[in-house]
Amino acid sequence: MSITMRKTFLLSALMACALSAYATQGAAIPDDAIGLSKSSVYEDPDPIVVNYRGGDVGTNKRAQRSYHTAPPMITHSIVDMVPIRQDFNLCKDCHVQPDLLKEKITQGMPVPAPVSHYANVKKGEMHMARWNCTQCHAPQADVKTLVNNTFRKAR
Ligand code: HEC
Ligand code: HEC
Repeated sequence: MSITMRKTFLLSALMACALSAYATQGAAIPDDAIGLSKSSVYEDPDPIVVNYRGGDVGTNKRAQRSYHTAPPMITHSIVDMVPIRQDFNLCKDCHVQPDLLKEKITQGMPVPAPVSHYANVKKGEMHMARWNCTQCHAPQADVKTLVNNTFRKAR
């Protein structure tokens, strides 16, 4: 092999390598297979309309907790209460009631948010890290699970 031939051989070998790397990179994941959504990430479909379970506030039995310290499920309908905004939080009006913490809660009464939810319990000052209630407390609806899992309720 002459020097020029060797050079050409090396060059084409390098080119082949670069091309195959390019080919793997080029095999892009289709944009409807990136997330859990079955449509393209560039589409913004309207969310499915869900009928939440639970009647008006004060008419429901409290739900069983899934595990110790789990944020309890919202038992009532929250239609017209969401989205919670900086200047709009109806949840707080019923649940941030430190005076009720000492009382026995019977059916129909709003369950007071626990001590952990206040910056100052005595003054009834809510902790701002708890402002967005639905970040942790979820309403209930009969829907198919997005991803199956094997979680079981603690006994
Ligand atoms: C008008 C008063 C009122 C408003 C507003 C309200 N709730 Fe309630 N909430 C209640 C009452 C009363 C209960 C007792 C159970 C029932 O009737 O559903 C309750 C129950 C709950 C529970 C279950 C507590 C437990 O320990 O079982 C959670 C969680 C909850 N509400 C969260 C919220 C969130 C989050 C919002 C705002 C999106 C909200 N509530 C708005 C009155 C209210
Ligand atoms: C960062 C998560 C988080 C946020 C935000 C949050 N909570 Fe909670 N909440 C919890 C957890 C966790 C518990 C259970 C605490 C426990 O068992 O010690 C709880 C318990 C409660 C309870 C049940 C109290 C009881 O005695 O059974 C009520 C009512 C409640 N929260 C209401 C609210 C309301 C109303 C808001 C918004 C103003 C809110 N929470 C925001 C996590 C959160």
